[in-house]
Amino acid sequence: MLKDIFSIPVDIHDYNFDVKLMSKVCFEYLKENKDLIEKDTGQNIEDLIDLQLTWTDNKFKINTKGFNTPEYPIVNNTWSKLPREKIWEDLLKEVETKSNIFIKNFYNKKLKLGEFWINICRSGSRLNPHVHPNSVLTGVFYIHTSEGCGDLRIENPYTTQLQMNGGNSQLAQPVTQYGAGYWDLPPTENKMYLFHSWLRHSVEINKSTYPRISISFNLIDDSDEEIITNLIEQCYK
Ligand SMILES: [Fe+2]
Repeated sequence: MLKDIFSIPVDIHDYNFDVKLMSKVCFEYLKENKDLIEKDTGQNIEDLIDLQLTWTDNKFKINTKGFNTPEYPIVNNTWSKLPREKIWEDLLKEVETKSNIFIKNFYNKKLKLGEFWINICRSGSRLNPHVHPNSVLTGVFYIHTSEGCGDLRIENPYTTQLQMNGGNSQLAQPVTQYGAGYWDLPPTENKMYLFHSWLRHSVEINKSTYPRISISFNLIDDSDEEIITNLIEQCYK
């Protein structure tokens, strides 16, 4: 009998949000900022492989350099609030609710949304392995996906130990959870994944011809006074 004495969970939830409307709104944000984005990058907006629209520091910022180089070159000051759609508010509240249930498995903490960002990742985009410092939980909700548009790859933190004994040297995904160098989670519309922010992850290349659209978020300790309080309220008041 194998008894799991340590394990690493990913919290998975399925929803019925109007993801078509969310997609439409995301592209409207891009359309409204087309001139700004093209002026800043010197590229046609259609040629930009990675775009992130991030709510942080009380402003929406547009990152056109890909999240591997998060420079946020464009700040749109007209977006003092999350534009228009109540669906964002409902989704973000759900993120906070589920995060606070999930976290009770590990700590006696109350979490709140620290920041969130919309990702529009076209064909050919990929995201290198990384962690999310200064947050407790991280997650993603998928708005638009298609076959081969890029799995979320979670790395086994014990990969080094597995390799020390000659196992799993190819980092292939074996059949059991115990020897896997990584675990791929498929991007699926209306699905949310939540996990520890310290868990290294990456996104595989988008091999489809369509953009993958998702919204990612960091949940922080509610007692951390240095970071924005009541982010959702600030977005909607
Ligand atoms: Fe990430």
